[in-house]
Order: sequence, then structure tokens, then C-alpha cells
Amino acid sequence: MRLFFALWPSITAAEQLATAATQAAARIGGRATRRETLHLTLAFLGEVADDHVPRLCEIASGLSAPPFRLRIDLPGYWRRNRLFWAGCRDVPAPLEVLASELRDRLGTAGFAVSNGERPFTPHVTLVRKVPEIAPNVVLPAVEPVEWWCSDYVLVRSLLSESGPSYEPLARFALSAGRD
Ligand code: 2AM
Repeated sequence: MRLFFALWPSITAAEQLATAATQAAARIGGRATRRETLHLTLAFLGEVADDHVPRLCEIASGLSAPPFRLRIDLPGYWRRNRLFWAGCRDVPAPLEVLASELRDRLGTAGFAVSNGERPFTPHVTLVRKVPEIAPNVVLPAVEPVEWWCSDYVLVRSLLSESGPSYEPLARFALSAGRD
């Protein structure tokens, strides 16, 4: 199974992000992410054997991290993978803690986290397959989108010709008081 951990936007936030994605794609080209697939990846695992899922759930349940408000307001573009994305001007400290604790625990348990060695750049991919954007071109603005993150999910990614679809396998609460 192709798996990753992610924050999933509220319905309202997903609608706002989908609008931003459609508007950006109309301006810069590329394929806007569908509303139901918009998310922010915390840790990407890639192919994992089915029987490792219980261990992944155990690792995620054992993690203590508080809930937080997430504000997505920073446009970004990566030429290497042709993505236009939206991130955070100010990354909330609890998000940094959540991602690094999760990645550390996964690494310690022997799971390979892709890009785990790079600094975590929280982002929601809005448009894929973006044609080259010259450095002097101003990126589409991202109207701030906010949601309250009170949980995160372990997700299965299913790839097909029409694009990926995602199946949530398990949900983990963020809670101020847990140890
Ligand atoms: P992206 O949006 O930056 O492409 C499901 O595919 C999620 O996992 C997406 O958010 C995607 O990030 C991320 N992802 C896919 N392949 C990855 C990889 N090799 N390393 C890190 N993240 C990856």
C-alpha cells in the first residue's frame, strides 16, 4: 500500500482551497487539485506492507501533540516537480512538533520517510503539472484559508489514470492533555 500521514482540511477550508486552486490553474496552467483530495502531508511513507499498518497506528496513537489553528496564506512554486502550492507564512509551532515527532518515531521504528531528511515544508498542493513559471512572474496570491486541526489521518493513496484518490485508514486525535 502507498501510505502517508496528513492533515485534512475542514469542508469549508477545502472549498476555499479548491477555489484558489482553480483560479491559480486558470492563470498559470496545469491541473488544479480536486477538492476532495486537498491535504497537507505530514510524512510520506510510500509503499508499505499491509501488515505494518497496525504498527503505524500504534506509533501515531502514542504521539502527544496539541491541536492548533492552521492558516494557509503563502503561495509557492517548485520547478523541480512543477507544483504550485500554498503554505504558511508563520508555521505554527505545534505543526512543527507534530511533523518532527511523527517522522522521528517512524524513523526509529524503521520506516523510511521520504524527504524526512529535508526541512519540513508544510504545503497543500493546489496545482500539478504547472508549465515553467519565469522567476520574475508574480505567483497567484493565496487568500488566507484557516482551519482548526484537531486530528490527522493515515491515508492510502490509490493511483489511476484519472489522478490519485485517497482512502483514510485511521484518524488520530490531537489533544493538549495526552501523554
Ligand atoms: P506533493 O503534494 O508535494 O506532491 C500523496 O501523494 C502526498 O504525498 C502528496 O501530498 C505528495 O506531496 C506526497 N508525496 C508523494 N510522493 C512523495 C515523495 N516521494 N516524497 C515526499 N512526499 C511525497
